[in-house]
Amino acid sequence: MATAEKRFGRLDIAYLNAGVGGAFGPIAETSVEDWDYTFAVLTRSVFLGMKHASQAMKKHGGGGVILVTASIAGMVGGGGSHAYSAAKAACISLIENVAAELGPDRIRVVGIAPGVISTPLVHRGRPDKYEKQFSHQPWPDRGEPDHIADVAAFLCSDDARFITGETVKVDGGLLAQGVALWGTGKDNTFMKSAGVNRGSTGEAMVVRNLQSGDQKQ
Ligand SMILES: NC(=O)c1ccc[n+]([C@@H]2O[C@H](COP(=O)([O-])OP(=O)(O)OC[C@H]3O[C@@H](n4cnc5c(N)ncnc54)[C@H](O)[C@@H]3O)[C@@H](O)[C@H]2O)c1
Repeated sequence: MATAEKRFGRLDIAYLNAGVGGAFGPIAETSVEDWDYTFAVLTRSVFLGMKHASQAMKKHGGGGVILVTASIAGMVGGGGSHAYSAAKAACISLIENVAAELGPDRIRVVGIAPGVISTPLVHRGRPDKYEKQFSHQPWPDRGEPDHIADVAAFLCSDDARFITGETVKVDGGLLAQGVALWGTGKDNTFMKSAGVNRGSTGEAMVVRNLQSGDQKQ
């Protein structure tokens, strides 16, 4: 923060983006040291970033934007390891709470929750090995750093001047897909037929086969 102030005279935008995969494995096998490391890199860094960025922005006046890279792993189970997910969930909570505090100073606090993005953090130099993870979302394209960068640029711009406390999912519909109990895409049971299920009312269920056009009750 001090370097930015020295070079540019003031601080307008702080992008708190550093990250690692952190601790993984069964909870009983997770060391305190690995847990603390994960929270230090993913959460303590965001606390410190917000603390010092807000000081610099308040000092110069005129507001600013603090942008945090969270993760969909902080919004739902199954997106990352226990420690990574918990650390990102803490970031999302910080975004909301600190946004409420800094709103009167015109400092916006916003987040991005990426889905699966093709970076070394995920593929560790072998993108081909993680094709299954990269193609899990409904949107046909692989998540790329540019998808995140474009939303970051928008959130830091005046076009987003009334958005604060919000963490925007940038995941190609991955979370919208949800638990996918009935399958995904064309394999989704609900996409093979159409009709109405009237539950236990005693009224017949009407089902129309979308391939043959046959209708039955
Ligand atoms: N790639 C994904 O699919 C994905 C998904 C959700 C969230 N994220 C988050 O996006 C952010 C960026 O990650 P990325 O995917 O671009 O990975 P990346 O590995 O390309 O970039 C992470 C950067 O953080 C830096 N870093 C790590 N520890 C640091 C520390 N202690 N101090 C300073 N810098 C440190 C690394 O050197 C690296 O430059 C991270 O917060 C990550 O958790 C990524």
